[in-house]
Parts: sequence; structure tokens; C-alpha cells
Amino acid sequence: MITSRLPHVFFGGDYNPEQWPESVWLEDMRLMREAGVNLVSIGIFSWAKLEPRPGEYDFAWLDRIMDLLAKNAIFADLATASASPPPWLARLHPESLPQNASGTRYFPGARQHYCPNSAAYKSRAAELTRRLARRYKDHPALAMWHINNEYACHVSECFCDVCAAEFRVWLQARYGLIDELNRAWGTAFWSQQYSTWNEILPPRKAPTFCNPAQQLDYKRFMNDSVFELCLSEANILKQITPGLPLTTNFMGWFKPLDYFQWAKALDFVSWDSYPDPSLGMSEVANAAANHDLMRSLKGGQPFVLMEQAPSAVNWRTVNVPKPPGLMRLWSYQALAHGADGILYFQWRAAQAGAEKFHSGMVPHAGENTRVFSEIKQLGHELKKLDGILDSRVPAQVAIVMDWQSRWALELDSHPAPLQYVQQLRHYYDAMRELNIAVDFVAPEGDFSPYKLVLAPALYLVRYGGAENVRMFVARGGTFLTTFFSGIVDENDTVQTGGYPLLLRDVLGVWVEEWDPFPPGRRGTVQVHGSRDLVACDTWGEVVHLCGAKVLATFADGWYAGKPALTLNKVGEGRAFYCATQFERGFTLGLLENICADLKIAPPLEKIPSSIEVCVRSKPEADYLFVLNHSDMPQTVKLQKWKGVDLLSGKKAAGTLKLGPFGVAVIESK
Ligand code: GLA
Ligand code: ZN
Repeated sequence: MITSRLPHVFFGGDYNPEQWPESVWLEDMRLMREAGVNLVSIGIFSWAKLEPRPGEYDFAWLDRIMDLLAKNAIFADLATASASPPPWLARLHPESLPQNASGTRYFPGARQHYCPNSAAYKSRAAELTRRLARRYKDHPALAMWHINNEYACHVSECFCDVCAAEFRVWLQARYGLIDELNRAWGTAFWSQQYSTWNEILPPRKAPTFCNPAQQLDYKRFMNDSVFELCLSEANILKQITPGLPLTTNFMGWFKPLDYFQWAKALDFVSWDSYPDPSLGMSEVANAAANHDLMRSLKGGQPFVLMEQAPSAVNWRTVNVPKPPGLMRLWSYQALAHGADGILYFQWRAAQAGAEKFHSGMVPHAGENTRVFSEIKQLGHELKKLDGILDSRVPAQVAIVMDWQSRWALELDSHPAPLQYVQQLRHYYDAMRELNIAVDFVAPEGDFSPYKLVLAPALYLVRYGGAENVRMFVARGGTFLTTFFSGIVDENDTVQTGGYPLLLRDVLGVWVEEWDPFPPGRRGTVQVHGSRDLVACDTWGEVVHLCGAKVLATFADGWYAGKPALTLNKVGEGRAFYCATQFERGFTLGLLENICADLKIAPPLEKIPSSIEVCVRSKPEADYLFVLNHSDMPQTVKLQKWKGVDLLSGKKAAGTLKLGPFGVAVIESK
């Protein structure tokens, strides 16, 4: 359980009482109680209110609101308030403002206007954190800490002189000697050899492509710099309130931060999910993938959906509301994938500021509204779901996700602009169509729970990652990887002698040449043992065998007849290699066969495509979540499943009828 103080499914949202007269607070309390709210994130953007002048603190208003919360049995996820520094910080310390790659400083006036290496920002944020922790450590409303907010969402890299100096320190720790750095970065190229550390700069705007290893190290350094901010606040909180859980809100696939690294410093993972209601099933699959990723960051421990929109957001060009039932459905989707809490941005729709057209749990029109009644309905329903707390999502399949490899893959000057998430989604979406649960795992993570590990587009492979794959396969695991994997080492240096050097023995193939496809080009593949041709896109290559057997060959172009799909048996296990992007149906069939072979079965077979099924389990019970993502009623055969639908309270067996966007949570003991 995330906290024994609140042994229920969390329900609530970002609460910004400082934006409202105190007369509204009492109404807030009444409406929160009516809606079943039990947790609010508070103080996220309150720094200027808490420290109106440097060193002058005003906690009186926060005392009052914390007391009100406690009186109303609502817990606080109290923020450290460091996400948006007050104007005086920029006035006193203009150097605390971040700078972009062209040397332009950002001005204050929005939010997140701080350089992650700014000493002034760091010390002021730490002091505020310390004071908040000391003041509220024994407050009955305090349930957990919310560090900062969506770290790096607007400013993920700062290129200022302070960062440049810190980068040099970071590099010295990594490489020790300047010549080591010269070797790692390949600075013999384009006369980039450094004679002293002081010559090294962030990869600022230059005439053409900056050194790729320098760019990659800068991404690592920036991730580490922002992580240090989080750590410094976390350490203060752990010291003063050792028993309280802490989190910071993540953003799913968000590229700049290596969340596997970050999750280690948090007690639980929380994240903010904003699918576009106008985009249909692909967006629903993307949300599912993100939930799975967030669940996987801490080895399957329950996470919290810290923010979602009650209806529309304000930051797309056109902001479509969630039609009736969709907010509820997407909330259950998060629970189905392992969430133990459902919260929103934000409690009350704002009257002023850049987010005044973002929906709130309480809309501008007030409580007699569709959105508020849907919120109330959900808040009360969730009270029936305490049983799911702490249950896990069992998965036998994992997809490798590596932030560093993504950073390197998506650098400039490559054979083609491959997008990592797109590559992962090709395989994730196929597993999803098969209704088979998927975890994500870091390349050096624990593969032992899995029968099948998929590692699409794993461009950068470290020695430890390759060893992990080798052991997994030797012990009977099934591994699959795809084109442009294992190309470089951790310094973005190409492995010569036939790609993918570190995985060659596992895969039983080596690659001589690539043929990336320009947009729109399609190729064909001949599957052995079948007459049909399969379409492919994105990529082709010249593959040679060194142990593997061929399952399919390219059918056109100058490398027709060469392998497109191979299988290598090693020890007890097997490794597949895909030299191209197969059409969706073929990938689906391939994974279906592999899963059938490995006896990995979905919880329900052959269900309509708009139905999603997920299982959460604990020793005493299994929970089958059945979600209807269509706006039409659907019927689902429950097959071997029997139990009670916790939402309707009715027995469930045989056939289940779901209304438009309908949901059932079937408990089976
Ligand atoms: C993010 C932020 C919130 C708010 C919402 C709006 O998730 O964390 O402060 O800006 O977006 O969608
Ligand atoms: Zn900086």
C-alpha cells in the first residue's frame, strides 16, 4: 500500500486554493466530500504566495487550508512548491534563468524558468522544502509529498555558462583524463580534439551537426542535473519525515528523463496522462503503453494517475472535451493497468491565467454540470474497489525500454530518422491486439519473470545489456530484436566487424548494409512455407547468417532472396531478428505464434477489437477489467471467468453486456 494513512483508491486532483478567495474554500470542502475526494495535491505553484519576498515566509493561508482538509477527512499530497519560482528570484538572480542552445535566455512570466544548475534556485528551493517539511511534518492532513511538478516539461536542457562549467565537472568524473574523453567522443573527427577541459562546451548552436557523443553526454548530464534537484528535495523530506511516501509526477514516454533511474529515488511512481479524445484507438493504446511503462518503473508496484483532464485541456490547438463516459472509462483503464489512484488536473477550473480554459472537476458553471456529476459518480464507485489495492498485473512478456538508447537513436545525421517510441509501439500494439499483458524493462533489468522479451530498435547496447540478453536466452527465454539494433556502444561509437556485434552470437546473423526506405516506399517479403507476399516498410538490409535459420526473405530489390526474418536457437532459448518493419498483420501473426508456442494466453480469447481486458492479481483474488472503448454497446463472452462485477454488484459469468464506454471489474476469488 502506498500509505496506510489512506487505505483506499486515491481520488482527487490538483487543488489551487491560493487562486480563490477563502469564501470559496468552504464550498470546495463540501463539494469534495460530495464527490468522494480523499486526496488533493496542494501548493504546486504556490512559491510566490509562500515566500512573497526573499526569505519572508507566509504559511498562514496554507495552515488554514491544511486544517480545513484535515477537518474534512481529505489528505494532502503536499508539494514542495519549487516548480515555478517567484519573480523576485529572476530579479535578484538573472543567472538563474535558463538559456537555450542559441544563447537566448528565457524570461520569467510563465513557469519552470530556472536553470537546473543554478545555485540560487537550488538553495532557495531547498530552504522552502525544508520549511514546509518542518512545519507540516505532524499535520494530520499530510499523507505524502509531491516534489516539484513535471520536471523538465518545458525546459529539459539549459545551455548557460553555469551548466557548461558543471558539465565539465561531470565529464571529469566520467572520463578522468581529457584523452579518455577525446577517445570516447571520437574527437579526431573534424578536428575536435580538446587540449583542456575548459574548451568543452554544451552542444550549443553550431554551423552543423555537433559531435554526437557530446550531444549524448549532454542529455545524460541534463538528466542527472534535473535528477539532482529532485534528489536534493527528496533527501530533505526523507530526513524530516522518514515515514512519508514521496513522488514526483512523470510524463510517460517523456524523452529527456530516464525514469528507470528516477523511480529508484521515489516511493511510488505517479504520472500525468492526457490522451487526445479526438484521436481514437491509437491514442487509447498509447495511454495503455504509458500506464504499463509507469507500472514497470518500480518493478510492478502500483502507481498513481496523478493528473488527467476531467474533460478538455487548453494546450492543443483545438481542445476537444471528453464525451460522457470517456473520463470514467479512461480512469478505469489506468486502474486496469496497475494504478491505485485517480487524480485530475485540476479541482476547480481557473478563472484567470493560461489554463483558464482547461477543464476542472468543478467546471466554471459550477456543481450542476455534466462533468461534476461524472466526477461524483466515479468518486463513489471507486469506494467499491479497495480490494484491488496492491494487486499486481502479471506479465510474461516485456519490451525493453532504454532512455539512453533512445537519446542516441534520435540524434541527427543518421541513416533515417527512426523514432524509438514508434518502433516500440509497432510491437506493443500487436501484443495489445492479442490482449496479452506487457511490462517494460530496462536492458540491464530483471528478465527472469518473462518468457518473451522484445527489444525493437535497441540502437545502443551496453555490455551489461548484451550479457543480460545472452543469459536470458541461454536459460530458455525467447528474444526478438529488430533492425538498427546493437549498432553503437555507450559512447555512440559504431561496433565494427558486422552489426550488431555484441548480439551476433545470440542472433546468429550479421548485417552488412542498410537500406532505409524513403517515406511512402514499401517492400515485399516472402515468408518461407507460404505463397503469400507480406508488405514491409521503413527499412531493409543485407543480412548474413552465422547460425540462424531463415524464416522469411526480402522479395524485391537488389537484395531479394536475402534474410528478412531469422530464428536462432541458443541453449534452451531462441532469438528472432526482424530486418524490416513488417506489415501490422504479419507482426501480429508472428507474435501470436510465438506466444502460443510459449503458452502465453490472453485472459479472454477472441474478443471484439474495441474491448480491452486486463487482469490484476493478488493472492486472495483476481480482478478482470473489461473496458469497452467504443460508443456502442458490446457483448463479451467471459469464457472461464466467473465472479462478481464490483461496479454493478451483480454476478458475472457467461456473457457480459457493456454499454457505450462501459466497464466491468470482475472479482474472482
Ligand atoms: C501538466 C501540469 C499541470 C497542468 C496540466 C494541464 O500536467 O502538471 O500543472 O499544466 O499539465 O494539462
Ligand atoms: Zn544552466
